[in-house]
Amino acid sequence: METLAEIIKFINFSFSYSGSTTPILKNINLSIEEGDFVLLVGPSGCGKSTLLRCINGLIPHLYNGAYEGEVIVDGELVKNKNVNELATKVGFVFQNPENQIFMFSVEKDIVFGLENIGLERNEIDIRLKWVLHALGIEHLRYKPPYELSDGQKQRVAIAGVLAMKPKILILDEPTSLLDPRTALDFILLLGELNKKFGLTIIVVEHRIDLLTNVANKIIVLDKGEIVFKGLLKEIIKNKNLNLYGVGVPPVIALQNNLRDEDIIFDEVYLNVKDFAKEIKRRLI
Ligand SMILES: Nc1ncnc2c1ncn2[C@@H]1O[C@H](COP(=O)(O)OP(=O)(O)OP(=O)(O)O)[C@@H](O)[C@H]1O
Ligand SMILES: [Mg+2]
Repeated sequence: METLAEIIKFINFSFSYSGSTTPILKNINLSIEEGDFVLLVGPSGCGKSTLLRCINGLIPHLYNGAYEGEVIVDGELVKNKNVNELATKVGFVFQNPENQIFMFSVEKDIVFGLENIGLERNEIDIRLKWVLHALGIEHLRYKPPYELSDGQKQRVAIAGVLAMKPKILILDEPTSLLDPRTALDFILLLGELNKKFGLTIIVVEHRIDLLTNVANKIIVLDKGEIVFKGLLKEIIKNKNLNLYGVGVPPVIALQNNLRDEDIIFDEVYLNVKDFAKEIKRRLI
């Protein structure tokens, strides 16, 4: 069997921002494989954004603090690479795309990063056309950002990041400004990018139900420590998740309750449609 490459690794890692007395991340040991789609959850203030910053190198290169242990991204120590080098490996999408889109047109915005890393015109054109197509935003190419909806802005932000051809994409609450339908479309798009291009994705997202069909792994953080990590299908049925403020989707909660009543299912059904099918099968 083909073994998957480890693309992100934390070894005995701890971090505290300078000035703070308690560590924000503690004893983090973590391994993410190439092609994983990881959902990162936990209560507000538990350290999710901080953990992402350790992957894209903003920690320790921009934020100072006590940094212990190792973070390895694509075989190299993050602390030895500068943020620009890391940006070609790790794409970062903010919660608010306004922070990411600042040029006068969608096209200019997408090529900005490519020009910055000194790519040739020809390669820039190829990548521009590719991301416009991959994200279905060809029609927005010459539009100024202020004419775009939030969902369109989020796609443009991701296009700019994807054009850099990163191996890893990290997203910090990317759907918080989107309505449920647009949020779902956006998450499905991430699922497609993960499948089609083998992109490793880590997303912080409170709306877990949106992610259950695309993410394969989950990490639950609490007070700076990992309390659960592993296969989403395995961990999502753990009733202790509620203790950590993780809003388990109703369809999972229902299965957990039924299990308490000795109604056992062979597998975990992650969405209503599949679960309904199973119920129907049993009733007939
Ligand atoms: N730049 C900073 N300097 C000092 N402390 C910080 C800094 N950024 C975050 N913190 C502290 O680190 C802790 C973790 O913050 P972080 O932003 O990583 O949490 P989070 O899990 O992303 O929370 P949320 O769900 O609210 O976004 C918090 O106690 C926060 O106050
Ligand atoms: Mg955060």
